Amino acid sequence: MAFTVQDYYFRKAKKDNYLARAIYKLEEIQKRFKVVKAGDRVLDLGAAPGSWIQLTGPIVGGAGLVVGIDLKPIEHAFPKQVVTLQGDIFDNDFVEAALRDHVPFNAVLSDMAPSTSGIKVADTARSALLFERAFELALWALAPRGAFLAKLFQGSDFHRLLAEVKKHFSTTRVVRPEATRKQSKEIYILAMNRKI
Ligand SMILES: C[S@@+](CC[C@H](N)C(=O)[O-])C[C@H]1O[C@@H](n2cnc3c(N)ncnc32)[C@H](O)[C@@H]1O
Repeated sequence: MAFTVQDYYFRKAKKDNYLARAIYKLEEIQKRFKVVKAGDRVLDLGAAPGSWIQLTGPIVGGAGLVVGIDLKPIEHAFPKQVVTLQGDIFDNDFVEAALRDHVPFNAVLSDMAPSTSGIKVADTARSALLFERAFELALWALAPRGAFLAKLFQGSDFHRLLAEVKKHFSTTRVVRPEATRKQSKEIYILAMNRKI
């Protein structure tokens, strides 16, 4: 029986004691582009169950900070430089209270995805809304020269959103990590060096 990419990374994550196979996507992006550095302050949107934090927590180390936010509780116990919060990123009061003491960040990451309905147009539109909100929060919370990395289901909004991001950063790339399922429409927009 042939294993799909999904099976392979799912099994690998279990074997490696990672909370989700999503870690391999960030791992690849991090290896290629060094998005997160020692001592950085990182905001991770859509962070549950926490596999991206398993990667970024040790990279930033004790001098850094990772704030992970998700609708779902993040139950894993992380080291002291990690703060996890449960809430909706569209709730302005929650976001402001959650981030007030932690801004600015050197990197804003978003792996947020809508719970998929199977109706492609609807799922793509909801993914675009999550991306736009992540970008809005990044512009608010990101330090000069900071990085923004966010997931997006490719659809009719893709070129508009990419053009919008490009205005604010020196380098912008579209990345599709190896660990992405073959049939998936998801890509990541990686923008580095926020313009001052
Ligand atoms: C693919 S998972 C993230 C996996 C995570 N990066 C990891 O490595 O463990 C997408 C997450 O986005 C979250 N999400 C979706 N909409 C959200 C919202 N409005 N506010 C906060 N989190 C949201 C979901 O609850 C889900 O946990």
